[in-house]
Amino acid sequence: MINSDRKTARLALDESGLDRAAALLRRGCLVAFPTETVYGLGADATNEKAVASVYEAKGRPTFNPLIVHMSDRAMVSRYVDLSDRAVTLADRFWPGPLTLVCPRKAGSKLSELVSAGLPTVAVRIPAHGAARDLIRLADRPIAAPSANASGRLSPTEADHVLSSLDGRIDAILDGGACTVGLESTVIDVSDTEPMLLRAGGLPSEALEAALGQSIRSATEATDDTAAKSPGMLLKHYAPGLPLRLNAKTADAGEALIGFGPVAGDDTLSASGDLVEAASRLFRLLHRFDDPSRFSGIAVAPVPESGLGVAINDRLHRAERG
Ligand code: TXA
Ligand code: MG
Repeated sequence: MINSDRKTARLALDESGLDRAAALLRRGCLVAFPTETVYGLGADATNEKAVASVYEAKGRPTFNPLIVHMSDRAMVSRYVDLSDRAVTLADRFWPGPLTLVCPRKAGSKLSELVSAGLPTVAVRIPAHGAARDLIRLADRPIAAPSANASGRLSPTEADHVLSSLDGRIDAILDGGACTVGLESTVIDVSDTEPMLLRAGGLPSEALEAALGQSIRSATEATDDTAAKSPGMLLKHYAPGLPLRLNAKTADAGEALIGFGPVAGDDTLSASGDLVEAASRLFRLLHRFDDPSRFSGIAVAPVPESGLGVAINDRLHRAERG
């Protein structure tokens, strides 16, 4: 049972904060922590009960598997098998905003719940140094979905985490704003044919260049996609207010989020910089998702290239809410 009266400690990102957070994780507690992409809701990935409490705290459907965060390659190789393709991508992009879906190693001590019944595990080594320090201090892999209640926006600041999970988790390490601001790119490298399961902080063009081949996207694929990455099909990243995309002006009562030439009430990026836009996306959606001030949120067109693909993916999901 989740103890919804639990007090959520806000820990500074210093030596004593990291020590306390690591000790909590080792005891099976839930600790939110910053990564370069978004805040993660961390739990010991080898402790089934701790992993179960992640699903419970988030109110996440149990069939949506979690990403397991590792401090280094030695840790990764204890839990999953890396194909040649996986090694190529890991060498090139880890640590960083890339998640590799790999076969679970036989006899792996990882919780079964972490992969929600799939024979694969999604793993990544975050670029955020303090996140890796935390994993190293905890001395175990850390399962961490984005630190928001299920179906809510991904958090890029400590206050976003507390707005949906205060009292439902044991602690949060406050590391300020996340630099990338978009979740990691997820690619399945467990099969002969690599498949992009989620566009994210690393543009798929970079993956294609590294592998020297084009990569099929799960959104273009059919039948087996639902089984492969259930998260793709779920309601996700939804603000409470209705969203209207490709808007050049605001209708009555709407907030307008600008981009490039569309100024808006505030802008993803006045100069049309997609990296800046990605890092500000969730922050602006959070800020304008305020029914006491607005009746809806309009968003300016964002080009469908580079990080714009992931930004538009998040916006379309939010629109469908
Ligand atoms: O940037 C990120 O990836 C953040 C930070 C905290 O690292 N984490 C994150 O986790 O966004 P989450 O749980 O919100 O999203 C995980 C995604 C989901 O779409 C899920 O379905 C997919 O990865 N996934 C996880 N394990 C999988 C597996 N074994 N096979 C296929 N898809 C998997
Ligand atoms: Mg999420």
